[in-house]
Parts: sequence; structure tokens; C-alpha cells
Amino acid sequence: SFRAVVFSGIAGWCYLTWLVYRESNPGSQKPQTEFKENGSRKKNIVILGSGWGAISFLHKLDTTKYNVTIVSPRNYFLFTPLLPSVPSGTINIKSICDSVRTIARQTPGEVTYLEAIATDLDPTNKTVSIEHKSQRFNIGDAFTNDSEPIETTLHYDYLVYAVGATVNTFGIPGIYEHASFLKEANDATAVRQKLFNQIEASRLLPKDSEDRKRLLSFVVCGGGPTGVELAAEIKDYIFQDLSKFIPGIENEMSVTLIEAQHNVLSMFHPRLIEYTKDVFKQQGLNLQTDTMVKKIDDKNVYAAYRHPNGKTEDVVIPYGTLVWAGGNAQRELTKKLASKIVEQQTARRGLLVDEYLRLDGGDQIYALGDCTFTQNPPTAQVAHQQGVFLAEHFNKQSKIEDLKYEIDSTTEESKLNKLTQRLKRLEKKDTPFEYIHQGALAYIGSERAVADLSWGDWSTVALGGTMTFFFWRSAYVTMLLGIRNKIFVVSDWLKVAIFGRDCSQE
Ligand code: FAD
Ligand code: NAI
Repeated sequence: SFRAVVFSGIAGWCYLTWLVYRESNPGSQKPQTEFKENGSRKKNIVILGSGWGAISFLHKLDTTKYNVTIVSPRNYFLFTPLLPSVPSGTINIKSICDSVRTIARQTPGEVTYLEAIATDLDPTNKTVSIEHKSQRFNIGDAFTNDSEPIETTLHYDYLVYAVGATVNTFGIPGIYEHASFLKEANDATAVRQKLFNQIEASRLLPKDSEDRKRLLSFVVCGGGPTGVELAAEIKDYIFQDLSKFIPGIENEMSVTLIEAQHNVLSMFHPRLIEYTKDVFKQQGLNLQTDTMVKKIDDKNVYAAYRHPNGKTEDVVIPYGTLVWAGGNAQRELTKKLASKIVEQQTARRGLLVDEYLRLDGGDQIYALGDCTFTQNPPTAQVAHQQGVFLAEHFNKQSKIEDLKYEIDSTTEESKLNKLTQRLKRLEKKDTPFEYIHQGALAYIGSERAVADLSWGDWSTVALGGTMTFFFWRSAYVTMLLGIRNKIFVVSDWLKVAIFGRDCSQE
């Protein structure tokens, strides 16, 4: 009835207001202390990173049980699944960044955040060297330093290592000098700026000029989900919005996606790969598969195309804006850490961990997310589940330690028996990490998405189309951490639906 609708509307509004209020006005936290309430020493945890793994861990951890310090050069969590929507202006970068301090204030116990980069680790003495730089991001994720860095050393009882990965360039000449990446927030804004620079520059050249054509060529290398989503978003932008304000640009601008393998989105169901190819064809997006990039200079991508008969041919693809999305490589710090531990000597593609995420050969070091090499893919989904698992493991460990402490200080037989039983039960509950794959989603343009969904071992569904697109959007809204970000993202989508995407360069 009408009354019920009005009532639920008001109730929903009140709930939303309460959520917003709670997030913007965090309550008090238990302060960090040397000892726990039972008198035992409170152990400290140092978390490295503020990405999916680290923040999911922090979110679930009972921070009253440990003294927690989080160290990261990035003072915000970045919701990477929506990063490809930033260069086109569908999403404002601020909408997908959540401050680490805000997140840290939502936990029950006080958390120290240090904006710094870990530069070295000493697994024997359990220390981390950290350095604060007055930082500025270069293109990519290199942190540059304009002033004298401030350095210090932290001691840890437990180290949670979640520094993610960097971009893999495979040593291909010219990438660092000429290409942009899509890994960090600043990368996304840099891509947008480059795109606009080239469009504006092209206006000065005659229509039949080769240079004008080149400036209006947007090239993405790497047909994994990052490359596919970015190419699709840019194509949408040109057709749906730029064409309204720069008439004719849709005929002049080209978007090319170069992929070394025969297929894009190789981890998706073959039907969805074919569907993606069809959508790209309809959109007029140039898909160049079987094309291996070899070299890049300031104007061209040099690649080798493999014909179906196996013969290769050299191809040159001129570009105005170039984005490299060739996958992940390990960070220097991760390589340094691996070099210090005998058990990690064979770790080429990431750190080796056991089923409890304990670093092989590392004393009280836990590693998770893209910096590790496991049977699971390097995705946010995996890093998130690992973070939650590890926090629950630490919460249990704290209870176990408390019980052991109580057992040691108890002499009464009946109480001792009860405590020992409880301890056994708790220890039994500590089961290894098991990844539950919930599926993969990717946006492929023209309000269409592809989804490989799984419900346990028994069902996998491959979906593609406009309904999947709405599912893709609602799934991401649910996943966004705070209520503030959820509201911002939904309002960005609404703004685009009403006014279209913005055509100015910030
Ligand atoms: P990150 O999230 O990368 O976090 C690493 C953190 O460590 C950062 O805060 C960084 O600043 C910090 N750090 C780096 N060096 C240091 C240092 N020396 N000391 C201290 N801190 C340091 N996955 C999905 O499942 N679904 C998706 O839709 C999806 N979309 C994506 C879209 C894009 C454009 C990209 C790039 C990735 C996407 N991913 C997606 C993959 C997902 O983002 C990663 O798998 C995930 O971020 C890994 O989490 P992580 O915690 O290991 O690392
Ligand atoms: P990726 O590793 O998935 O894809 C990189 C692509 O670049 C590969 O297909 C590779 O063949 C290609 N490539 C490498 N070298 C090349 C060369 N020289 N020439 C041409 N092509 C070359 O990397 P991506 O897309 O950055 O993803 C990284 C991780 O993040 C993956 O695990 C992915 O699943 C995850 N992710 C998931 C998303 C989603 O679920 N929607 C979105 C984005 C990333």
C-alpha cells in the first residue's frame, strides 16, 4: 500500500543518514597499550600496503587485541575495478578512493597510519625500514622525491606484507618513456589528460594530415581485463559524448587494442570471448590479436603479427595516446625480501606462502594478494578473501594466546580442564585458507558486460549483455567499502546518465 511505501522510504532514508553520520563521525577507539587487559604483552602488527589485501585485513581485525601500524605511501584505498571508468570521465577518481585514516578510525582499537614506503626488511631481526618522501606519482607507480626523505625503522611481532605488484613491461624498449599505465589513481588522470592534449593538438592540423590521424589514435596494449575495459570505456566516450561536442570526431578517432595471444579476456568462458569480439566489431573497435608488441617510440608501436599459417609480419601502429596493460610483475622490495630467504629462492613470479598465508621461511611474516604466487589469480577478489581470512586467523590466535596465558596462571583443576577444552576447540577451528571463486566480471562497452559466475563447485553461468551490465554495476556498488563511496559512485553514474560525460580536461 501507499503507506507502506512511504514508511519504508522514510525508514531507508533514516538508515542511510545514520550510516553517513556514523562514517563521518567515528566514535572513540580503545587506545594502543603495552599490555592487554589480562596483563600479557600486546603484540604489534605492521601492515605494509593500503590496497585490497591490507584494507580487507584491517577491516576484519580486532584492533583492540594488537597494536596495529599500517604503512603505505598511498594514503587511500583505491577501488581498482572502477579505475578503467576514470579516463573517460564516467567516474570521478575521488569517488573510488577511500582515505586510510577514515578506514582506520572505523575499527574498535586505535590504529597508527604512517604515510611511508617500506624500503627494506630484516626478517631475522624483524624490522622494516621505512621512508617518507614528499611524494608525487610519476606515470606508473614510481614515487619521486623532491626533498630529503625522513627514514625510520619499525619493529614487528607480525608483519602483514601486502604491497601488491607493479606493471610488467617485459623489458620492451620505450614503454616507460612513452606509455601510460592504468594501475594507480594518477595513471587514470594522466591518461585522460593525454587523450585531451592529443585531441586539442589535432585540431590545429589539416583533416588529411597523417599526424592528425596519429594524434587521434588511442592504442591499448594488452587484452586482459584492464585493457579491454579501458578500450571499451574510451570507445563509449567518443561515440556517446565527444561526438556531440566535437562533431565528426567519432569518424576520425580510432581505438585499437593489441593482444599477443589469439584471444582477449583469456580467463573468461569461450562464449564470452566470442561475444566480446562481436561487440567490439559492432563498436568499430580495432582488435589486433596475435600481435606481439616489440618496441615503442614516441609515435609508433612496433609489433609482430602472427598469421594463421604461423608466419610473422612486422606491423607499425601509430598512436597519439598509448596505454600499456601487459599484466603484473613483482616490486623491487618483494624481490629484495625473497633474496634474503632461502625458501624463497625459487620464487620467480611472487612470494611463496603456505595455506595459512605464512611466508615460506619467514618468521612471523604473512603475505597476501598480488605480491604472492599461489594457485589463485592475482585479483581483488583473492586479496580480499585472503585479508578477511588472515584477520580471522589473527583474531583466533589472540583468543588462543589469552587462553594459554590464563591456563598458565590457573591452578584450580576444574577451571583448568574447562580452559583446556576451550583451547582445543579453538585450535581445531583454525582451518587453512580456501579461495571461493565467485566469478569474473568485465565491462565491454555499449552498456554491455560479461560475467562468468560461480556458485560453489556445482554451477557456472556465462552471461553477456545489457542485464549483465546492470548486474556488473550493482555488484560493484555492493563491493565499495564505505557508504560515502557508494553514494559518490551512484551519483557519478546518474550525472552521466542525465548530462553525459564531461568534455573538459581538469
Ligand atoms: P594493491 O591493491 O595493489 O595494494 C598494494 C598497496 O601496497 C598499495 O596501497 C601500494 O601503495 C602499497 N605499496 C606499494 N609499495 C609499497 C611499499 N614499498 N611499502 C608499503 N606499501 C607499499 N580484480 C578483481 O578481482 N576484479 C576487478 O574488477 C579488478 N579490476 C581491476 C582493474 C584495474 C585497472 C587493475 C589495475 C586491477 C584490477 N583488479 C581487479 C586486480 C586487483 O586490483 C588486484 O588484484 C588487487 O589490487 C591486489 O590487491 P593487493 O592488496 O595485493 O595490492
Ligand atoms: P593480464 O595479465 O590479465 O593481461 C595482460 C595481457 O597483455 C595478456 O593478455 C598478455 O597476453 C598481453 N601482453 C603481454 N605482453 C604483450 C605484448 N608484448 N604484446 C601484446 N600483448 C601483450 O593483465 P591485466 O589486464 O592488467 O590484469 C591483471 C590482473 O588483474 C589479472 O589477474 C586480472 O584478472 C585482474 N583484473 C580483473 C578485472 C576484472 O575482473 N574485471 C579487471 C582488471 C584486472
